[in-house]
Amino acid sequence: MAYRNWGFWDNPFGTDPLPPTEHGSKLLVGRDEVLRNIKRRLDNSSKIVTVEGLNGVGKTSVVNVMAYRAFSETLRTGIGPLYVPCRKPFQLSVDVDADEFRLSVLREVAQTLIECHAEIPPPPGRTRTTNNTALDRFLNSPQVKSFSGSLLQFGLGYSSETNTGSGFEKSGFEKAVLDWLEQIFPTSTSGGVVCIIDNLELLQTCQNARDALERLRDSLFSVRGVRWVLCGALGIVHGVASSPRLDGKLHKPVVVEDLDEKFAGEIFDNRIRAFRDSRSSKLPLSRSQFIEIYDIMRGNLRSVLSECDDFCMWVSDRVEERDEFEDDFFEAWLAEELETAFYSVRSELRPRALEVFETACQFEVFSPSDCEVFGYETPNAMRQQIRNLEAVGLLKSAVDESDKRRKSIQVTSKGWKVRAYLDFFEDSF
Ligand SMILES: Nc1ncnc2c1ncn2[C@@H]1O[C@H](COP(=O)(O)OP(=O)(O)O)[C@@H](O)[C@H]1O
Ligand SMILES: [Mg+2]
Repeated sequence: MAYRNWGFWDNPFGTDPLPPTEHGSKLLVGRDEVLRNIKRRLDNSSKIVTVEGLNGVGKTSVVNVMAYRAFSETLRTGIGPLYVPCRKPFQLSVDVDADEFRLSVLREVAQTLIECHAEIPPPPGRTRTTNNTALDRFLNSPQVKSFSGSLLQFGLGYSSETNTGSGFEKSGFEKAVLDWLEQIFPTSTSGGVVCIIDNLELLQTCQNARDALERLRDSLFSVRGVRWVLCGALGIVHGVASSPRLDGKLHKPVVVEDLDEKFAGEIFDNRIRAFRDSRSSKLPLSRSQFIEIYDIMRGNLRSVLSECDDFCMWVSDRVEERDEFEDDFFEAWLAEELETAFYSVRSELRPRALEVFETACQFEVFSPSDCEVFGYETPNAMRQQIRNLEAVGLLKSAVDESDKRRKSIQVTSKGWKVRAYLDFFEDSF
């Protein structure tokens, strides 16, 4: 792997969400206020926490790190509700089967408790006691041992399972997990395993999404000892998750905005520190070049990291060793990227389309009802232009036929490259 040759134990520009671990916590930059807002909602009521923001802005990461920090804080101080971050986030598909989904959540929750238990260092003596009752109940629960065995059995049997004969085993398993959760988390203020349902916007139509969520309301969202956080695109809570049946069950969304530009350098420094395995490590990308990409991508973290990784791969296609990096690599790569993006859409960017695109870039994210500032009287009149720009990959809109005010159209990373091309070379255009 190129990064290994350069003195890193792993790719510093991976685009997966930050995990709920010490490593993830160290990589998180900024976000103090969002962390506090999410935690406060969890602490103060058993309602479902909702988090909204553009794709790639850092929603899943911030929830993961919040849950991890809450968990380690309670381990350290013995104070407060016990929150245990679930091992991985969940996603709903349009054809989700509520029972199957519930079973998969309970298996994951049980597995999470077992793994966390194993990671907490055993104290001297046989029983573990702290001054935190939820933590004590968790550390000393006899279920940990018995579950390790039975989960394996259920885990293996799960995929090949037929309907006959498995009903009893399934319900026996479910009941045992529910009992265990009730023991560790007997009241709504004892905490719980923090589970995320991610990317709610992937649900293609409002109706399917509402149905799926509503079906889970009684069977899953009310389970004691599991605390829910729903994440999705801007406006998704209003557009998808609010329905009479869920009304009163959801917190108002915590909005995750673009991370301020002033944090860009720190993100880079943190990653270098966390991923290098030798003092002599060296990347072809400098801190100021990272910040330049950050500016071009308007702070969308997933796009920024992905572009950095692209550049590093581009370099590794050309040279093997770190002492062969050349100073003008970055400029050459960037020019190539921007030109490729621009020339692939050039024929589509007729004057009217260009105007719409430039206005879109000013807004970064907008909705069809903003049509007037684009010079159109109705959303319908603007629609064809938006479709064209979408077809060439400069804009992306989330589907929501029911709410035209929802800000759901955003500029893509290709769009930002074209924008940068126009900024750099506008005179010659
Ligand atoms: N505050 C942050 N500091 C550093 N890196 C971050 C931060 N937030 C997100 N990231 C990184 O940005 C990328 C996108 O984050 P993610 O949480 O998956 O976004 P979202 O869930 O909003 O789509 C991930 O690779 C993640 O590691
Ligand atoms: Mg996410």
